[in-house]
Amino acid sequence: MIEQEEINNRIITLRKTLNELNHYYYVLNQPKESDFEFDRLLSELILLERENHQYFDPLSPSQRVGSDINTEFQQIAHDYPMLSLSNSYSKQEIAEFYNRIEKALLTPFTLVCELKFDGAALALRYKNGKLERALTRGDGEKGDDVTENAKTICSIPLTLSGNYPDNFEIRGEVFLPRGGFDAMNKERAAHGLELYSNPRNTASGSLKLQNSAQVAKRPLDCFFYYMLGDNLPATFHSDNLQAAASWGLKTSPYSKVCQTLQEVYDFIDLWDTKRANLPFDIDGIVIKLNDIRLQRNMGFTAKSPRWAIAYKFKAEAASTQLLSVSYQVGRTGAVTPVANLEPLQLAGTIVKRASLHNADIIQGLDLHEGDTVTVEKGGEIIPKITGVIIEERQSTAKPITFITHCPECTTVLAREEGEAAWYCPNSNHCPPQIKGRIEHFISRKAMNIDGLGGETIDLLFKNGLINDVSDLYNLTKEQLIPLERLGEKSAENIVNEINLSKNIPFNRVLFALGIRHVGETMAKKLVKAFRSIENIRLASLDQLVAVDEIGEKIALSVLSFFSNSENQIIVQNLIEHGLLFESTDKIIKTDDENNLNGLTFVISGVFSTIGRDELKELIEQKGGKMSSSISAKTNYLVAGENMGPAKLASAQKLNIKIINENEILKILNHSLN
Ligand code: IVH
Repeated sequence: MIEQEEINNRIITLRKTLNELNHYYYVLNQPKESDFEFDRLLSELILLERENHQYFDPLSPSQRVGSDINTEFQQIAHDYPMLSLSNSYSKQEIAEFYNRIEKALLTPFTLVCELKFDGAALALRYKNGKLERALTRGDGEKGDDVTENAKTICSIPLTLSGNYPDNFEIRGEVFLPRGGFDAMNKERAAHGLELYSNPRNTASGSLKLQNSAQVAKRPLDCFFYYMLGDNLPATFHSDNLQAAASWGLKTSPYSKVCQTLQEVYDFIDLWDTKRANLPFDIDGIVIKLNDIRLQRNMGFTAKSPRWAIAYKFKAEAASTQLLSVSYQVGRTGAVTPVANLEPLQLAGTIVKRASLHNADIIQGLDLHEGDTVTVEKGGEIIPKITGVIIEERQSTAKPITFITHCPECTTVLAREEGEAAWYCPNSNHCPPQIKGRIEHFISRKAMNIDGLGGETIDLLFKNGLINDVSDLYNLTKEQLIPLERLGEKSAENIVNEINLSKNIPFNRVLFALGIRHVGETMAKKLVKAFRSIENIRLASLDQLVAVDEIGEKIALSVLSFFSNSENQIIVQNLIEHGLLFESTDKIIKTDDENNLNGLTFVISGVFSTIGRDELKELIEQKGGKMSSSISAKTNYLVAGENMGPAKLASAQKLNIKIINENEILKILNHSLN
């Protein structure tokens, strides 16, 4: 027994020492011991743990080496949606941001300037000081659970120390320092492998590797910049980050609290030059209102907080030669010109192509064959051509003229009035349009058919198995198995996934049809107003434009979609296959289980995807009662971001169920379209 106790104590001591050494090395950048000593202690721990399984701890420092077992990521809803920041490119826009806050708040405030790290966002949850999970941004609402990968990043503490809240989320940016990235590429070059294009893509790709032992080999790092939770230690963002640092989390040493707009400008100017000397990439500065209570007053738009803004540094530019222009046809038939360039190095990547967007841009640039062009790379993956160096043009060079026929199916291109793009009108027979529509149909936000990607669609199309989206529902396992790359298991999986998609609600089916100008939001509006495909199909122009936010352009596009006989057949086939083409609203309203009758709700805090009034209205529509204060009669407290601590405390005392934004929306969604 004594011996067991000694072993346990030794394991505890080793874990503590290794965590501390790790913290000094990776978080504080102040190594306290030699690598040799670290490795010696780690080997001792690994040996003891191997021989004493009863002391296994998934958060032991020995677990940072990752596991060789491949895992699929589970998608998990974020407790707080992961929004992005609105971007700005000039000091003028920063001044406008400042003035907006000044005008809205009418009270003095300070701002925090931070570096905008160029990597991949990661949301960590710590419960009782232990790393519980790590999610990628995903689509902002749901992210991939990459906890095992995050655990291999040494600057992410597995356990916290000090006086931390029992449950909170902290967000940061995982990135590859330039040195680490270069070393990775050097090794790839030595093995004759293709080089990674840039640190940012490689960092976000690394987080998504399915084998955490592989992730452990990559020199990833992470800075934390945003804390969320009900019991945060302070009311100022900068103080919260300072507290986070005291618990062992790596925060940026380069942030600054600014009192005036001038100080913000100075910070921008300073880092615009000094960024070249940083050991990692940044693509701008983030400016945040420091007082969290004031942040709450400013609130959010649908996409980003009103209390923060990103200032993006000017994109890097260089010049190169235009080799040719090629044309791509998208799923809507829009033809996009793409410039093929003499390859050049730009912002750490090799650039070979640049988007020219549309015919007007080519004309505006007065682009000629063989021109020397200036190319810029901003945040976008595809760089832009921003100008032509006319002095370098050959006198014999001919102007680039936009094609007149579809490069894929030779149909004469058409252009609608007021639109910049040329379209191939042969929508039902032009291969990239057919394939593009099928790809859109199966995509995550539409029918969410997993297991089918662009390549498989290509294969199915080439083999004559699918010609439109309704053909998907005729596919059989036997047809799929003989195709290259597809085994029995994936064939079965595909057929199952396709079948499952028959439960997708009508608004997403409508979106999936890919009617031009009918995005996710418009699809919801149409379903809400018309309720069934039959009603939408029969709606007149006047009836369509009578719907809030549906203008003539959208209405005409809907009419034209349904007047096309081939589309009518596709829709009819889909109906016959049993897809949902009616709003399920009615059914659920009569269903007692989904009724909020007799339930009392209190809402508190800010919601990022819905306004408070809208939320109240929806709860009431479903029969729920709203109350402004917590009492024994309250059934649910709906907690938004930064909700009042008093409300939370009384809800906890009265044992009232606390639900977050996602949960209430899930409940309500049953009755939404
Ligand atoms: S704060 C509610 N601070 O930039 C928004 N973001 O476009 C909270 N990023 O998704 C984000 N450095 O991945 C914040 N110091 C910083 C940042 C930062 C980089 C990234 C982050 C975010 C994106 C916003």
